[in-house]
Amino acid sequence: MSKERVLTGITTTGTPHLGNYAGAIRPAIAASRANDTDSYYFLADYHALVKQPDPAAVHQSSLEVAATWLALGLDAEQACFYRQSDVPEILELSWILNAVTAKGLMNRAHAYKAAVQANVDGGSNDPDKAITMALFTYPVLMAADILMFNAKRVPVGKDQKQHVEMARDIAQRFNHIYGETFVLPEAEIGAETAILTGLDGRKMSKSYNNTIPLFVPAKRLRKLIMKIKTNSLEPGEPKSLEDNSIYAIFRALATPEETEKFAAQFADGIGWGDAKQQLYEYLDAQLADSRSEYERLIADPGYVEQTLQSGASRARATAAPLLAEVRKAVGIRSLAG
Ligand code: TRP
Repeated sequence: MSKERVLTGITTTGTPHLGNYAGAIRPAIAASRANDTDSYYFLADYHALVKQPDPAAVHQSSLEVAATWLALGLDAEQACFYRQSDVPEILELSWILNAVTAKGLMNRAHAYKAAVQANVDGGSNDPDKAITMALFTYPVLMAADILMFNAKRVPVGKDQKQHVEMARDIAQRFNHIYGETFVLPEAEIGAETAILTGLDGRKMSKSYNNTIPLFVPAKRLRKLIMKIKTNSLEPGEPKSLEDNSIYAIFRALATPEETEKFAAQFADGIGWGDAKQQLYEYLDAQLADSRSEYERLIADPGYVEQTLQSGASRARATAAPLLAEVRKAVGIRSLAG
């Protein structure tokens, strides 16, 4: 029986934070260890260009993201771990998919619509102001990422669900016109608890500038945790678990038993300072080993590069035959036979 293929991409726009860890990285690494799956995980560096205009940041983020996944135990022999830009077949496929993708479908993409809305709300007379073609066709490149490997399951955050559905639409359209070629992918949305609260109580996100980076030195980690916003209840007063960022972050990373114990302490009136200290100690213990490994990898980019290159050559071995089939299906082939 052939294994089910699971694929996901990580945009290389910044430094991985606790929210990425709880919501995406940890479950993905756990899934890659299952025997019945064949995992494809990649750095979406061409996607990064849409949001990150600083070349140094794109480059640095690629190293940081790759080192993070490896430090947290991704087995790069078992999973296929590569960089999108090292697999040119993906970009070739992307163009071919553009030829079967309705512009109207792209007009409905949430990210594009939000950018247009922001222009309208900002009083601009050009609704497409500063919107690039890369932003507009982002879902087509994402479809190519997925379809190039005939991935069936695509674990993503809620915000990416529509993109995976678009990939499915595009695959269906291609199959309808040129014959059965692509597997129809499905989005797998992580559990709601996996959405982490940030320093200010809103969702932890780079765009809110409220993240806790995953691998900062212990001292800095403690400092950030001490900054988490709380209310003014005194020690001894029972504290609610609602709107309680310290509890929310703990829960996203701890076992149910540990979480229950922590919850009981809030009911008993643990002071905010003590609760923060406990969260810090818990995180530090959980992350310390991977942090040393991360630091080692950041200091050895040659090793990380080699790992990605080896992933890319395996990815290309899968992609090339399918791309050859696709090109033939659309009429792009040798004139001599
Ligand atoms: N767009 C995704 C994000 O921002 C990243 C991504 C790119 C992706 N290509 C993908 C995710 C293919 C899943 C499959 O999170």
